[in-house]
Amino acid sequence: MQALPGFRDFLPDDCAVRSYIFARWREVARRYGFVEYDGPVLEDLHLFVRKSGPEIVKQLYDFADKGGRAVALRPEMTPTLARMVAASHRDFRKPIKWFCIPQMFRYERPQRGRLREHYQFNCDLIGEAALDADVELIAICIDVLRAFGLTAQDVVVRISDREFWIDFFRAQNLPQERWQEVLEVIDKSEREPREKIAEQLGQLARPVFEILDGGGRSEKLQRLVEGLQQRGLAEFVRVDLRIVRGLAYYTGVVFEAFDCQGKLRAIAGGGRYDNLIHQLSDGAASLPAGGFAMGDVVLGELLRENATAHAQMEAAVAAQQRLDLYVVIAKEERRSDAIAAIQCLRDASYRVDYALTPTKVGKQFQAAEQLGAQVAVLFGDEWPQVKIKVLATRKEQLVPNEELLAHLARFPSLSSLSS
Ligand code: HAM
Repeated sequence: MQALPGFRDFLPDDCAVRSYIFARWREVARRYGFVEYDGPVLEDLHLFVRKSGPEIVKQLYDFADKGGRAVALRPEMTPTLARMVAASHRDFRKPIKWFCIPQMFRYERPQRGRLREHYQFNCDLIGEAALDADVELIAICIDVLRAFGLTAQDVVVRISDREFWIDFFRAQNLPQERWQEVLEVIDKSEREPREKIAEQLGQLARPVFEILDGGGRSEKLQRLVEGLQQRGLAEFVRVDLRIVRGLAYYTGVVFEAFDCQGKLRAIAGGGRYDNLIHQLSDGAASLPAGGFAMGDVVLGELLRENATAHAQMEAAVAAQQRLDLYVVIAKEERRSDAIAAIQCLRDASYRVDYALTPTKVGKQFQAAEQLGAQVAVLFGDEWPQVKIKVLATRKEQLVPNEELLAHLARFPSLSSLSS
């Protein structure tokens, strides 16, 4: 039996990478004053049918539960967030700045960068209509990428504005019921042949191509870039009106992050959705909102391919998995003294392991090396003294057992909170 197509097993090394990614996500979110929330994995099917748009609805994992209720595994977080905020926003000061790291499920064709489950870092800012909120969201998206060691030579955030296109549609007298369809054609314009796009656009083809080829000007996007310039982040962004996003609920600024080489799928995407909460609450709550999500799959690929980011990740993962101390029991008579000491060391937050059953001393040292321990502490003939051995240098020192903790505090690279 294997895992289902598009689903991953997380062996310890994979889990360590995932923890590394989650830790960076959490750390940067908190730096920006975002707080963590979560919602249910399973939702009423209609929440997504009404709110996510046809692209995602085709990919839903939906079924009838034992009570006959039509339900779906969450393919994205935004409808759940909007539902939660519509119900509870009075309890929170505005703007609401929330993040979460949920697992998502989409029945897509598994391929590079696209699986049937993925984790997604979502950051949303609710209750602020000013462009400064969009700047803040794009800035955090960039800073998250920077936290992984990525630079403006590695990643680019392409920014656009749906309002720009809506104004254009109005100027072209395009009936409103066709707006979404034309936006979807523009969204695909990069991935599909120009002739096919031209055919779908009909009379709009010429003016649309003029804009897509660089002819569009947006004062709002200019101000957005200036906002990022003030933060020294403008080199990471590029105005690109080809970005309109596949999801139906976006109303204004939209953006997507990509690798600069253009080899991978989007790393992150988001934008403003000022009407979603209003629509979901049938008008009871009305709050401007914006946000984005970054998936772990494409990001993980990029981190493996980028030399600097990869080295940073490897070092962090090794540090995460490494033991501090391995207690070597050289004389079985000392086992109970060793176990008492191990308990004290673990209480002091050191990462400690030892052989659970009688084992040859050589084998114990081998285990210490394999587990990445920095120091071995040997309980043997020297009792009531113990031998501290730094494994990298082979340097040894005898210390009285009761002074062990005080001696270990002198090793700054050990992870104990007490040191
Ligand atoms: P999205 O563009 O559908 O946006 O997804 C965001 C990111 O999740 C993508 O850029 C990609 O990295 C990752 N992702 C999506 N689908 C898959 C998949 N099948 N396999 C692996 N990774 C995937 C949203 O979901 C919006 N709800 C984001 C948002 C939050 N907008 C406002 N707030």
